[in-house]
Amino acid sequence: MTATRVCALSELEQDTARRVEVEGVPIAVVLDSNGEVHAIGDTCTHGDISLSEGFVEGETLECWAHGSAFSLRTGRPLNLPAYEPVPVYVVQIDGDDVLIDPNLKKEV
Ligand code: FES
Repeated sequence: MTATRVCALSELEQDTARRVEVEGVPIAVVLDSNGEVHAIGDTCTHGDISLSEGFVEGETLECWAHGSAFSLRTGRPLNLPAYEPVPVYVVQIDGDDVLIDPNLKKEV
Protein backbone atom coordinates (compact mmCIF):
# COMPACT_ATOMS: atom_id res chain seq x y z
CA MET A 1 0.00 0.00 0.00
CA THR A 2 1.12 3.52 -0.61
CA ALA A 3 0.30 6.74 1.12
CA THR A 4 -2.60 8.77 -0.26
CA ARG A 5 -2.76 12.54 -0.45
CA VAL A 6 -5.49 13.59 1.99
CA CYS A 7 -5.27 17.38 1.81
CA ALA A 8 -2.90 20.28 1.36
CA LEU A 9 -0.83 21.36 4.32
CA SER A 10 -1.85 24.95 3.60
CA GLU A 11 -5.53 23.96 3.97
CA LEU A 12 -5.10 22.88 7.58
CA GLU A 13 -6.11 25.33 10.26
CA GLN A 14 -3.96 25.33 13.33
CA ASP A 15 -5.51 23.60 16.37
CA THR A 16 -8.48 22.41 14.33
CA ALA A 17 -9.14 18.80 13.39
CA ARG A 18 -10.09 17.84 9.88
CA ARG A 19 -11.80 14.56 9.03
CA VAL A 20 -10.49 12.66 6.03
CA GLU A 21 -11.19 9.17 4.78
CA VAL A 22 -8.55 6.96 3.26
CA GLU A 23 -9.57 3.57 1.86
CA GLY A 24 -12.74 3.82 3.95
CA VAL A 25 -10.84 4.56 7.17
CA PRO A 26 -11.92 7.76 8.96
CA ILE A 27 -8.93 9.73 10.23
CA ALA A 28 -8.67 13.02 12.13
CA VAL A 29 -5.81 15.19 10.87
CA VAL A 30 -4.57 17.92 13.19
CA LEU A 31 -2.03 20.69 12.72
CA ASP A 32 -0.92 21.52 16.25
CA SER A 33 0.31 24.87 17.48
CA ASN A 34 3.94 23.76 16.97
CA GLY A 35 3.29 23.22 13.29
CA GLU A 36 3.34 19.43 13.60
CA VAL A 37 0.73 17.37 11.75
CA HIS A 38 -0.87 14.40 13.51
CA ALA A 39 -3.29 11.74 12.29
CA ILE A 40 -5.35 9.58 14.64
CA GLY A 41 -8.40 7.38 14.22
CA ASP A 42 -11.45 9.63 13.95
CA THR A 43 -13.91 7.43 15.82
CA CYS A 44 -14.04 7.82 19.60
CA THR A 45 -13.59 4.47 21.35
CA HIS A 46 -16.38 5.28 23.79
CA GLY A 47 -19.08 5.90 21.21
CA ASP A 48 -19.64 6.38 17.53
CA ILE A 49 -18.59 10.02 17.58
CA SER A 50 -16.28 11.77 15.12
CA LEU A 51 -13.34 13.09 17.11
CA SER A 52 -12.65 15.72 14.46
CA GLU A 53 -15.87 17.43 15.62
CA GLY A 54 -14.20 17.90 18.99
CA PHE A 55 -11.62 20.29 20.36
CA VAL A 56 -7.86 20.46 20.00
CA GLU A 57 -6.15 21.30 23.29
CA GLY A 58 -2.36 21.29 23.09
CA GLU A 59 -1.45 17.77 22.00
CA THR A 60 -4.88 16.27 22.59
CA LEU A 61 -8.14 15.97 20.70
CA GLU A 62 -11.15 16.00 22.99
CA CYS A 63 -14.39 14.21 22.18
CA TRP A 64 -17.27 16.66 22.44
CA ALA A 65 -19.73 14.03 23.66
CA HIS A 66 -18.33 13.08 27.08
CA GLY A 67 -14.97 14.80 27.25
CA SER A 68 -12.36 12.08 26.80
CA ALA A 69 -9.18 13.70 25.46
CA PHE A 70 -7.03 11.53 23.19
CA SER A 71 -3.28 12.07 22.90
CA LEU A 72 -2.32 13.05 19.36
CA ARG A 73 1.01 11.26 19.90
CA THR A 74 -0.10 7.95 21.39
CA GLY A 75 -3.83 7.79 20.67
CA ARG A 76 -4.48 7.00 24.33
CA PRO A 77 -7.36 8.63 26.15
CA LEU A 78 -6.08 10.69 29.05
CA ASN A 79 -9.36 10.55 30.96
CA LEU A 80 -12.53 8.50 31.20
CA PRO A 81 -15.05 7.50 30.01
CA ALA A 82 -13.04 6.24 26.99
CA TYR A 83 -10.30 3.78 27.98
CA GLU A 84 -9.28 2.19 24.66
CA PRO A 85 -6.79 4.04 22.42
CA VAL A 86 -7.41 5.10 18.84
CA PRO A 87 -4.78 4.26 16.20
CA VAL A 88 -2.07 6.76 15.33
CA TYR A 89 -0.97 6.98 11.70
CA VAL A 90 2.32 7.99 10.15
CA VAL A 91 2.01 11.34 8.36
CA GLN A 92 4.20 12.19 5.40
CA ILE A 93 4.59 15.74 4.14
CA ASP A 94 5.67 16.19 0.53
CA GLY A 95 5.83 19.84 -0.35
CA ASP A 96 2.27 21.04 0.36
CA ASP A 97 0.79 17.55 0.29
CA VAL A 98 -0.23 15.66 3.41
CA LEU A 99 -0.07 11.91 2.81
CA ILE A 100 -1.33 9.04 4.95
CA ASP A 101 -1.31 5.28 4.51
CA PRO A 102 -4.05 3.82 6.75
CA ASN A 103 -2.05 0.59 6.93
CA LEU A 104 0.97 2.41 8.35
CA LYS A 105 0.37 2.94 12.05
CA LYS A 106 2.84 4.45 14.44
CA GLU A 107 4.42 2.24 17.05
CA VAL A 108 3.52 3.98 20.29
S1 FES B 1 -18.46 9.23 22.82
FE1 FES B 1 -16.48 10.09 23.05
S2 FES B 1 -16.22 10.27 25.21
FE2 FES B 1 -18.22 9.37 24.97
